[in-house]
Formats: sequence, structure tokens, C-alpha cells
Amino acid sequence: MALILSLESSCDESAAAVVRDGCTVLASEVASQIARHAPHGGVVPELAAREHLKAMLPVTEQALRTAGVTLREIDAVAVTQGPGLIPALLVGINFAKGVAQANALPLIGVNHFLAHIYGAFLDGDLAVLGARETYPLLALVVSGGHTSLLLVDRNGAARQLGCTLDDAAGEALDKGAKLLGLGYPGGPVMQRTAEGGNAERFEFPRPLTGGAGRALAPENLYNFSFSGIKTALLYHVRKAEAAGVCDEAWLRDTAAGFQRAVVDVLVRKTLTAVKNHAVRTVVVAGGVACNAELRRMMAEKLPDRVKLRLAPPKYCTDNAAMVGGIAYHAWKRRDFAPLNMDAFARLPQIVSVPFVVGGAGEE
Ligand code: KG4
Ligand code: ZN
Repeated sequence: MALILSLESSCDESAAAVVRDGCTVLASEVASQIARHAPHGGVVPELAAREHLKAMLPVTEQALRTAGVTLREIDAVAVTQGPGLIPALLVGINFAKGVAQANALPLIGVNHFLAHIYGAFLDGDLAVLGARETYPLLALVVSGGHTSLLLVDRNGAARQLGCTLDDAAGEALDKGAKLLGLGYPGGPVMQRTAEGGNAERFEFPRPLTGGAGRALAPENLYNFSFSGIKTALLYHVRKAEAAGVCDEAWLRDTAAGFQRAVVDVLVRKTLTAVKNHAVRTVVVAGGVACNAELRRMMAEKLPDRVKLRLAPPKYCTDNAAMVGGIAYHAWKRRDFAPLNMDAFARLPQIVSVPFVVGGAGEE
């Protein structure tokens, strides 16, 4: 048995969790900084770091209290190493190093992108990770920083099929919401505004899907681009303002149309990859995976033979449970980080995932 204390500080949530054996979440505490960043319309890295500094100790103490354990019972300390905002990451990493050093515990560095995928397997049975029929597995990771399709095989070998060429899906929703004066973060407020709206009243582009008479270059089959939808929204708003037609129904229908365009592109690309790679499981993870429209459309459009694993909303947005869950697999391999472990900002090329039970990463 392994009890892992995990920490997350890659962006604007300070989080701590206690996870047993890679799946049982005994505590998952999240201190959100949203209110601090909202006046700036986005996350300010230095401000995030200062807030993490204040929140890290209380959330960690709270996680231990909720789990009903002391540091003496913990087997390892895991922390998000990257990708993320460097000043923010450094706070969690240094805190984790201190806890590990002071308690003679091993330290585990976790890739935040892969941790998001792992969020879809928490609170469940790890047997699914070892089952042959789970693979090939396709993960759509959609957050404020990522929009990516990762293909994983039975041995844990992985290949990124595509990613965004400009904005991430969450970033597009955040910027779109800002443009509509809806506030921050944009994803949830866009979803609320779109409720009851007519998604077909206004037409927004579906970039890199081969529509609008434009051929799709093969290298962009699985890539995404959301900056065009954002520009289309800007022109749409300007036109409506000039015509003086920005009433409540207009706002609702605009939000619904914009959200539908983003979701439609995500679902279409996922379906193409499912078909071309004989995918048997689709995982949808990351903050945007909270989106009700995306969850509904994905469930509706995927063929019946494909198993859909939507990360539970509490494990979609940034949290430390996903960090502690995936870290268990590193713990089993004794894959510990040195005390001079450093943060990294960008997603490295992913060639394998550590969580395929019985896969190459386990030998
Ligand atoms: O995973 P996350 O918490 O942080 C990153 O790693 O980026 O994702 C945050 C993103 C934000 O862009 C936010 O607007 C989006 O997830 N988001 C949503 C919803 N809830 C959060 N997007 C669409 N619909 C939602 N319900
Ligand atoms: Zn994240």
C-alpha cells in the first residue's frame, strides 16, 4: 500500500491531496485564486506565485486532516513539475522538497498534462488500466493551456497526434467570454450564458476541419486552431454593436453558437482519430472537459463500441488528486526525483505514459 501526499501549483489553484494506491482519493483540497486574478482578466504569474506561497501550507494541512493521516504515514511526496507557469510551479516544488527532506520521504515529479488524463481514472478500479480491451486509448486534453490528442497503446507507448497551433480551447473560451463582457474564467460563464440559447442562429467557423471550401492539409488533420473563431466573434460583436442589437437573446445565442463551434471542432477531430486508429477508449480531461455541451456531444457522437471516460468535473480543473494518482505508478517503479529537480514550462514530447498497468513503464 502507498499513501502519497501530492501538491499542485502550476497555474491559479493551490491544491493538495492524499491518494492511496493510485486511485482512492482520501482528500483533495483546492484553494482557488480566481477572485485574485479576475480583475486582470487572466492569470498573472507573479501574483499566482505569491498566492501559492500563502495557500500551500494551509491546503496541505487541510488535506492531511481530511484524510485523517499524519506525515508519518505518508510514503512519498508528489508535485507538479510542469508544464505551467514557472514562478507558480517553483512554489509547489520547493514546498514539496521541504516536506520530503524534513520527513525523509521520496520526491516524485509529475507531468501536469499526463496527470490531467489520469483524472479520468481516479475513484475507480485500476484494473481498467491493465485491461487489453482499454487500448488503443485516445486522450483529448482540453484546458486553459492545452488542446491535444494523445494516442496510447497497450504497452504505454504514446504519440501526440495533434495539438493547437495557437490558442487552447479553454483560452479561446476565456478570451471569447472576455470579449462578450462575461467575466473570468470564461468557460463556465460561457456555458451558463449559452443555456437555452440557439446555437444555430449565428454561424462561427470550424477551423482546420476542411470546411468552407478549404482543403485540410494532412499535417493538420489532428491539429487545432481557435484564434480564427475568436476573431470571428470580435467582428460579430462589432457588427451587432453598430446595429444596436446586443440584447439578452443575442448574447445567449452568441454564447451558444461560439461554444458549439469550439465543441464541434473538438468532437470532430476526436471522431476522426477514433476511426483512423481503431480507438477503443476515449478519455476527455482538463478544465474544458467540465463543459456540459462537450460531454453531451462526445457521448452522443462516439460509436457504441468505444468506451468514453469523462473525467469527473472535480478532477477536470486543476487539482492535486490527479497528481497523487499518477505518482503512484512512479512510486511502484521507485522512479524518484532528486532534490535539485527543476520546473519546466513547456510540454515535452510525450513518447510514453507511466500508468499503463503491465505496460513498458512498469517493467
Ligand atoms: O485544467 P484547468 O483548470 O487549468 C489548466 O491547466 O489550464 O483548465 C482551466 C480552463 C479554463 O480555460 C476554463 O475556462 C475552462 O478550463 N473551463 C471550462 C469549464 N470549466 C472550466 N470550459 C468550458 N466549460 C466549463 N464548464
Ligand atoms: Zn491543468
